[in-house]
Amino acid sequence: MNVDRRKFIASVGGSAAVAAMGHEDRAEALEHYMTDQLDRKVEFGEGAQTSIEPQVPRGTGNLFRPTTSGFEPMPDKPTLIDFFERRFAPARHVLQSANHAVQTGQPERTVFACLLHDVTQNLIKADHGYWGAQLFAPYVDERVAWGIKYHQALRFFPDESVGYAYPDMYNRIFGADYEPDEYIKQAHEFARNHRYYMEARLVTVNDQYAFDENQREVKIEEFTDVIGRQFKQPREGLGNDNSPVAHMWRSIINPNRPL
Ligand SMILES: [Fe+2]
Ligand SMILES: [Fe+2]
Repeated sequence: MNVDRRKFIASVGGSAAVAAMGHEDRAEALEHYMTDQLDRKVEFGEGAQTSIEPQVPRGTGNLFRPTTSGFEPMPDKPTLIDFFERRFAPARHVLQSANHAVQTGQPERTVFACLLHDVTQNLIKADHGYWGAQLFAPYVDERVAWGIKYHQALRFFPDESVGYAYPDMYNRIFGADYEPDEYIKQAHEFARNHRYYMEARLVTVNDQYAFDENQREVKIEEFTDVIGRQFKQPREGLGNDNSPVAHMWRSIINPNRPL
């Protein structure tokens, strides 16, 4: 994807707004921008990606943003696929990254981590890797949650052994002095010495092939079997299962819920 620097900066409120943002916030904003651009082409048609207008404003993201337009109702016992279809869609970026993992013969666990790795970006703007890992942890292999959590930090650090270069877009958009926040550096240090390192690293590898505006539409149904094997769907439905994160799923079902 070609990111137009001027349009991106306008979308987050201009260069003064960018200057006031920390480096991690800038990276988050850029990734959201690219993901939104990719989805907008599906939602609003060809050419929509050139519009800087209704980008989601910086800040909390869709989940905690008041809305008057309402949300498509969810089934009584919602599954992960229901959330993909009615809350995360079009989600082209994660679908493309999971598809890339399939096409390059990567393990199913990696495919699955790629499928989930950025869905929280639609919901909350900051620290999407941490939010995502927590949201999915009770239902997935711990290595999947770990990979989702640490991909956020690892995207800034190259690893030539797997063909992951530092995304030069950060330098191009924000200047050569671009430097990740301290907690991100620490998370990277921790992750690279951890036995699960590759779980997160492979997410970043597939990430870089997943902003393709011209790729065919990948459908969530293509991953039905993977989800069936990798996701412990609660019988009562997500949000109803009394898990430590059930409230997070309920909030996604209805962010307007008053109580
Ligand atoms: Fe991400
Ligand atoms: Fe991503």
